[in-house]
Amino acid sequence: MKIKNLEILGDVALAPIAGYTDVGFRAICAKQGAGITYTEMASAKGLYYDKAAKTQELLNTTDDERIKAVQLFGSEPFFMSYAVKHESIQKFDLIDINMGCPVPKIVNNGEGSALLKNIPLAQDILKAAKDNTEKPVTIKMRIGFNDINAVEFALAMQEAGADAITVHGRTRKEMYTGHSHWDVIKQVVDAVNIPVFANGDVESYQDFIDIKAQTGAQGVMIARGALGNPNIFSQIVGKSDRPLKEMMLEHIEIMKRFHNEHYVHANFKKHMACYCKGKRGNKEIKVKAFESKTLDEMIAIIKDSDL
Ligand SMILES: Cc1cc2nc3c(=O)[nH]c(=O)nc-3n(C[C@H](O)[C@H](O)[C@H](O)COP(=O)(O)O)c2cc1C
Repeated sequence: MKIKNLEILGDVALAPIAGYTDVGFRAICAKQGAGITYTEMASAKGLYYDKAAKTQELLNTTDDERIKAVQLFGSEPFFMSYAVKHESIQKFDLIDINMGCPVPKIVNNGEGSALLKNIPLAQDILKAAKDNTEKPVTIKMRIGFNDINAVEFALAMQEAGADAITVHGRTRKEMYTGHSHWDVIKQVVDAVNIPVFANGDVESYQDFIDIKAQTGAQGVMIARGALGNPNIFSQIVGKSDRPLKEMMLEHIEIMKRFHNEHYVHANFKKHMACYCKGKRGNKEIKVKAFESKTLDEMIAIIKDSDL
C-alpha cells in the first residue's frame, strides 16, 4: 500500500490509543508486524504553548517502528499549520489528524469528532497541515456525529487533500457501543480513490480477514485488540509469536530510554492490566503490580510470573 509517496510495509496498523501507544508499545507492536504505528493524539495547540514539553513527551519514537505516524488534534488551522512544522514532528513519516475522538472535553472544544459536524473547518484544518509539510497527511474519522455522514465527509477530506483515511465504523453518539458498521466503511472505500484503513472490532486474525473481505479496504487498523496482545500482529502477518513476559520487559526497557522510572512505573500499570487479562493467576499479579512501590519491584513481579 502506498500513501502519497510512502510505501507501507503490509496492511495492518496499530491505532492511536491515548494512554497506551507509548514509544515502547509502538516498538513492540512494530516488531510483531504492525506496518505502521501511531502515537496517541497530541494537541496541536499544546505544541505551540507547551512550555513544560508535556505534549512532546508523547512524541518519542525508535527505529523499531517501521512507518512512524504521529496523530495531532486541534480545531484551529493556525495551530495545525504551526504543529506540522514543529521540530518534534519531523522524525515522523506521516501526520494523521484526529477527527473522531468522542470525549466531551475534546468535542466541547470543537476538536476530534466535533469536526464531523463542521466540514468546512475540517477541510481548513487539513489544508493548513497539507500546505505546511511535504509529509503525507491523513485523517481518522468516525462515520458521523449523531447521524451517519461518512461518505460526504470522506469525499470532502479527499477533496481537501487527504492522502489516506481511517474510518472507525461508529458514530460519535454510539461511543463504543454495538459493533463497528463495516458496511458503512465499505461505502467510503467505494466512494474515494485514496487508501482507506478499516477500523473497529478487529480482535483476531479471522476478524482481520473478515473486515478486509467485507469492506474492501486496503488497510486495517487495530486498537483494543492489540492491548496486551502485540502477537495479534504476528498472527496476521505470519510471524512467530513472542512470549508475553519477554515483550513486557522489552516494552519497559524501551520506555526507560525516554522517561524516568517513576513515569514508567506509573504508566506501565495500565499495560500490566492488559497483558494479564485472561491469563492464569492474573488477579494476583495485577494486585501485586499495582501495589508495587518501584519499577524494579514491578519488573521482579513480571519475571516471577508465568506470563
Ligand atoms: C482508551 C482509548 C483511547 C483512544 N485514543 C485514541 C486516540 O488518541 N486517537 C484516535 O484517533 N483514536 C483513539 N481511540 C480510538 C481507537 O483508535 C479506535 O478507533 C477504536 O478503539 C476502535 O477500534 P478497536 O475496535 O480496534 O478498538 C482510542 C480508543 C480507546 C479505547
